Amino acid sequence: MPYRPFRQVPMAPADPILGLTEQFKRDPNPNKINLSIGVYQDESGVNPVLKSVKQAERLWQEQEHTKEYLPMPGEQRFGELVRDLVFGARHPLLAQQRAVTVQAPGGTGALRVAADFLYHLTPKAKVWISEPTWPVHRGLFAGAGFAIETYPYYDDARHALRFEELLATLERVPEGDIVLLHACCHNPTGLDPTAAEWQRLAEVFARRPILPLLDFAYQGFGDGLEEDALAVRTFAQADLTLLVTTSLSKNFGLYRERVGALTVVSGSADEAERVFSQLKVSVRTIYSNPPAHGGKVAEIVLCDPALRTQWLAELAEMRERIQAMRHLLVESARKAGVQRKLDFLLEQRGMFSFSGIPKEQVLRLRAEYGIYLMENGRINVAGLTRKSIPYFCQALAAVERGRAAAG
Ligand code: LMR
Repeated sequence: MPYRPFRQVPMAPADPILGLTEQFKRDPNPNKINLSIGVYQDESGVNPVLKSVKQAERLWQEQEHTKEYLPMPGEQRFGELVRDLVFGARHPLLAQQRAVTVQAPGGTGALRVAADFLYHLTPKAKVWISEPTWPVHRGLFAGAGFAIETYPYYDDARHALRFEELLATLERVPEGDIVLLHACCHNPTGLDPTAAEWQRLAEVFARRPILPLLDFAYQGFGDGLEEDALAVRTFAQADLTLLVTTSLSKNFGLYRERVGALTVVSGSADEAERVFSQLKVSVRTIYSNPPAHGGKVAEIVLCDPALRTQWLAELAEMRERIQAMRHLLVESARKAGVQRKLDFLLEQRGMFSFSGIPKEQVLRLRAEYGIYLMENGRINVAGLTRKSIPYFCQALAAVERGRAAAG
């Protein structure tokens, strides 16, 4: 008998986000809309390659002269550029050499390096994630070995932050634990703390022996590149030891190139050097060294004044289109007779909105209309277009009325 060690392997459940996209691709409905995965789409319903990125790719194709491995932490220049984006180029902790960065395969890769580094350091610590959060947060940190706890974040009924409860929870997070926060454009709710609230959060972290990790996947999709850095900079200003995971996959539209980074801010340059050595060990044992292409393209764009200006304009265009879709959706829903009040969508930022659409309607939207959103009601607003919004609103009004499929 051949050895069949996988005979008992159970079928894993489909991924709550990527699994829906697989299902969407198989759906023959010509009107189908994918509002599940957080990928920007333009007015024609396509995820475009940015013009600045295309130009940088052309330049790089000419210049590239080797395919040798990158160093374990990636390109040094890339790390400097990421720190400038995150903290602002003149932040004192950069001159103090207290921040170190490793280039990673996407924001997810950066989170995985953070989890590995932290687990080796403090395996007994728990990781606190927001309720709700991006589903991968739980799986990724649990997979690294951590016990997971949640803190209250979003009030479904009021479409508001549970800020005081969040603060109260932080007061009782045990010493040494890690708290994961979304630096902007909270995924899935689209609702972030205000500037004053970030300040109050920073004060708690400054007073308590707990470690903040800021997941910064959507810089530039909220209010602007600089504006969205408010949380990270408030925490840096409070002189906190802190981890920041960055994704450039989204703001450069380089999704499939997997471009991200982990930045760790330590108490001194000496501490930072030792942390950096440990991050390299984590990188080496997970993926050895990062992919080069996307990081190089981002580097070229950021260092060339004309390309940088063009990129900023393209980023603004994406951000403004998402905002325009929020307004159009709210207005069109009202006109289509959707009962659910959606005005709160206008308070939310970034790609995502927690629509509050109940699961049974989400399932009908999918089965009867080919409209895919996450089962928890999260919509990727960046997946809507002027053309698809009327169809979405009619479908929503119909499933609200409990009517049979209109076809
Ligand atoms: C999302 O939340 O849809 C994105 O972050 C894509 C992903 O990897 O889940």
